[in-house]
Amino acid sequence: MRQKVVCGNWKMNKTVDESVVLAKQIVEKCDPDSDTLVAIAPTFLALSKVADVVKGTAVKLAAQDVHFEDDGAYTGKVSVAMLKAVGVELVIVGHSEQRQYFHETNETVNKKVHKVLDAGLKAIICIGETLPEREQGQLESVLSEQIVGAYKDVPVSDALNTVIAYEPVWAIGTGVTASDDQAQQAHAFIRTVVASIYDDRTAQAISIQYGGSMNPANAEGLLSQLDIDGGLIGGAALDADKFAAIVTAG
Ligand code: PGA
Repeated sequence: MRQKVVCGNWKMNKTVDESVVLAKQIVEKCDPDSDTLVAIAPTFLALSKVADVVKGTAVKLAAQDVHFEDDGAYTGKVSVAMLKAVGVELVIVGHSEQRQYFHETNETVNKKVHKVLDAGLKAIICIGETLPEREQGQLESVLSEQIVGAYKDVPVSDALNTVIAYEPVWAIGTGVTASDDQAQQAHAFIRTVVASIYDDRTAQAISIQYGGSMNPANAEGLLSQLDIDGGLIGGAALDADKFAAIVTAG
């Protein structure tokens, strides 16, 4: 059985104090005995304080991004060592907002994936097509390119320490969710691409989250699909009740 992974991606929301409040609410509301891996990704600034809140609980700490160099003159960037030192266990890499607004490419995603995995942390690798790409029949080619790019030179033992987040760009923050079937089909396809890089066993072992306007109302339908193993949650993750309901739905 693949593990379900539900991660809250708080994006550029919440001050440090507000992050601590939300983290405490989430810790309280999420079942500590759940088999689901539950994580929250606050702003970098709040990681340290939120780490104190989640320490010793079932909720894990995630970061929203990382730089691919170890250290040095990279103004504004945060290294894997810095994240690890505050207790981060998972790092989101290649989010579509990074790709769209901040020049993230399949190559930089790959460099980040290597850094995260070399440090022994888990990488959540985000992939997904835009609406024009889907409409022009490029869904599979775009996803393939993103997956092959992200896993370039990643050995199978490290690949097992990754999670893939399928996030159709047109569904992120829009209130438009992929239908259960659309999502399931994309997830099944993603698994075939992973199998072609590694093997079927590896593909079956890697959890694939859905992301894009997931909420308590649609979570159960999506999470009951064969190849959907959790969610990367944006808007709904800013509300502890909604987030906990999604975790329970899994
Ligand atoms: P959303 O964001 O749930 O607000 O659509 C998901 C994400 O971008 O990870």
